[in-house]
Amino acid sequence: MQAKKKVNVNDVIAMKGTEKISVLTAYDYSTSLICDRAGVDILLVGDSAGMVVLGYQSTMPVGMPEMAMFCGAVARGAKRAMIVGDMPFGSYQPNTSVAVENAVQLIKAGCDAVKLEGGSEIIGTIKAIVDAGIPVMGHIGLKPQTSSLWEGYKLQGRTTVSAMKLVDDAKALEKARVFSIVLEMIASEVAEAITRRVSVPTIGIGSGAGCDGQVLVLHDMLGIYEDIRPKFVKRYAELSKSIFDAVSSYAREIKTGKFPEESNTFHLGPEELDKFRKVKKI
Ligand code: KIV
Repeated sequence: MQAKKKVNVNDVIAMKGTEKISVLTAYDYSTSLICDRAGVDILLVGDSAGMVVLGYQSTMPVGMPEMAMFCGAVARGAKRAMIVGDMPFGSYQPNTSVAVENAVQLIKAGCDAVKLEGGSEIIGTIKAIVDAGIPVMGHIGLKPQTSSLWEGYKLQGRTTVSAMKLVDDAKALEKARVFSIVLEMIASEVAEAITRRVSVPTIGIGSGAGCDGQVLVLHDMLGIYEDIRPKFVKRYAELSKSIFDAVSSYAREIKTGKFPEESNTFHLGPEELDKFRKVKKI
């Protein structure tokens, strides 16, 4: 069987205007294998892991050690998908050297690129990481790392002034040579306008169908994470119920002695069993 060619930065850029880009978050080896086999173009190791895997209230507490561990696990599972590692809050704010060092750490863990939240205010940082040879995915609109400190999780680009600021941010990111830009919870008309104005692909989350690609959090679209149910999430499965039913049956069958069954059990050969019984006087 021919090995599948790994998706790279040039492939992603070339998809703009020709083919929609599928992006999904992943945090571990087993789901990475499945998502990769299913043909997802980019696996984003999002710091949303902080909420859906680690149980924090926001993405803010997530640090580099956790992200490096998740990135390594996802990278080991994917053969074709490009792996983008999210830089957690605090890993790129102090100064550009810290940002480059941390970006390098995620690349060494197995990522093909990194993602940072922010527009014009972090252009210097993005340029430094790109100059170090690391592809960067931008992220504007709702910025979950800091939004809770300001106005909370709200639709972005609601006024002409704020919409124009988003267009300017996207243009600044393009100039800083990002290879794609996540547009999170931006009014669809504004996201569409940004998509038309930049040469790199836009990846929407809650920003309408006009973007060049779409991303969702795996645990949201599979119906595993139930704490928050954003309107923009389409549930492709209700795994929380399936997992609950399976685990309930397992626990019940242990109590009733139905599990393990004969088919789940190993035996000694007849001769050895005989010897064993004699020695042990069973
Ligand atoms: O952390 C994350 O999963 C993200 C996506 C929702 C874009 O940043």
